[in-house]
Amino acid sequence: MGCGTGLELGYYFELVPSAEVTGIDLAPGMLEALRNKFPDKNMTLILGSYFDVPFGENSFDVAVSVESLHHFTVEEKIRLYEKLLKALKPGGSFILTDYFAKSDEEECFRRAELLRLKKEQNISDDTFYHYDTPLTVEHEIEALNKAGFSSVSVLNSWGPTSVLKAIE
Ligand SMILES: C[S@@+](CC[C@H](N)C(=O)[O-])C[C@H]1O[C@@H](n2cnc3c(N)ncnc32)[C@H](O)[C@@H]1O
Repeated sequence: MGCGTGLELGYYFELVPSAEVTGIDLAPGMLEALRNKFPDKNMTLILGSYFDVPFGENSFDVAVSVESLHHFTVEEKIRLYEKLLKALKPGGSFILTDYFAKSDEEECFRRAELLRLKKEQNISDDTFYHYDTPLTVEHEIEALNKAGFSSVSVLNSWGPTSVLKAIE
């Protein structure tokens, strides 16, 4: 979800060279670069928002998102994660790498700041405005649990970045 040019995909192909990959991104240029990077791989690239694109049911062994989900509210994420959970095969997993707020205060401050900036510029609530509003790791885990993932663990952390693994 939000595959961009697939910076991390080379590592996944080293693990499973024959992997069938579906990538979703809003940016056509990113998808074109990704296609050109791996011309011989089995990739379905979808131009669109992961909030709108249907994921199907029981379709994927693993879902991956890297540095793409730090703009959205808990409510938006829970709905997305519910859709994702249905799309995973039994025992499938979701690997989320993103950067996270260091504290509840930072999370609240950034959300309030986004609303302030939108108001100041007369931008409606439902219009996307590029300002980072990461959750804390704890709140991200809560959102994944609320969506129905059975267990969520933190695989790695460095600076504000963490890698979470959520199991179907
Ligand atoms: C910082 S880039 C990371 C790209 C890639 N995951 C990587 O690590 O190289 C974030 C990507 O998420 C995509 N993105 C943001 N919101 C999206 C959405 N709602 N649906 C699909 N892609 C989205 C952007 O177009 C961008 O390519």
